[in-house]
Amino acid sequence: MSSETDPSAQVAASYDEVGDAYFQYYRTAPSEVFTRYENLFIDQVTPGGSVLELGCGNGLPMTANLAEKFDVTGVDFSAGQIERARRNVSGPTFMHADMTTLEFPDGTFDGIAAFYSIIHVPREHHGGLFRSIYSWLKPGGLFVATLNSTEDEGSYDDDWFGAPMYWSGFDVDTSRRLITAAGFESVSDRVEVSDAPNSDGEKEIHLWIVARRPE
Ligand SMILES: C[S@@+](CC[C@H](N)C(=O)[O-])C[C@H]1O[C@@H](n2cnc3c(N)ncnc32)[C@H](O)[C@@H]1O
Repeated sequence: MSSETDPSAQVAASYDEVGDAYFQYYRTAPSEVFTRYENLFIDQVTPGGSVLELGCGNGLPMTANLAEKFDVTGVDFSAGQIERARRNVSGPTFMHADMTTLEFPDGTFDGIAAFYSIIHVPREHHGGLFRSIYSWLKPGGLFVATLNSTEDEGSYDDDWFGAPMYWSGFDVDTSRRLITAAGFESVSDRVEVSDAPNSDGEKEIHLWIVARRPE
């Protein structure tokens, strides 16, 4: 992968291509950890509230499950994924946009979920993104996200389901610091080992952030 390539443009283009393969591998039978945090989010956000899902992918299963309980806005910067999501799930508002350039008024959402999406955002944007997410939440609103559990200043796999893919993130302590610095109150921040292996057959280990904008 050329160092000239814009990682975000690459990630978006690659999900256009690999969205179906990703779904087949990871989401036809979601892992225990995915379902546990999805249920936690659904249980802890005000029923009927407004919810933002960052990196909603093809909308299955999570956007569809959220749409049964909440007024959902799903965002993804892959045109292919948003097209799939619009086909798969009726009800939510879907936006084709990069989460790092989104703007919403202060206090718009009761809950914001970012499952396995910020792991693709270059880490220099994480601090600013957490501050934006904080501002988009109502006081008392909940943020749940999957982040790297180890330091990665930005790395590529040239052949991830047949297309190049990029990931980036901080070690656990740095991510915790950035979440706190954005203003969040931590509910929990656990490193979780998934029961389902990743596409290389390795253990999937991530930091799961559950945090609230204080009342
Ligand atoms: C690994 S998939 C996860 C999809 C879904 N959240 C799930 O857990 O099944 C990551 C998704 O995040 C999207 N994504 C990554 N970076 C993004 C960004 N900066 N803005 C919007 N979407 C992004 C990708 O296009 C992709 O659809």
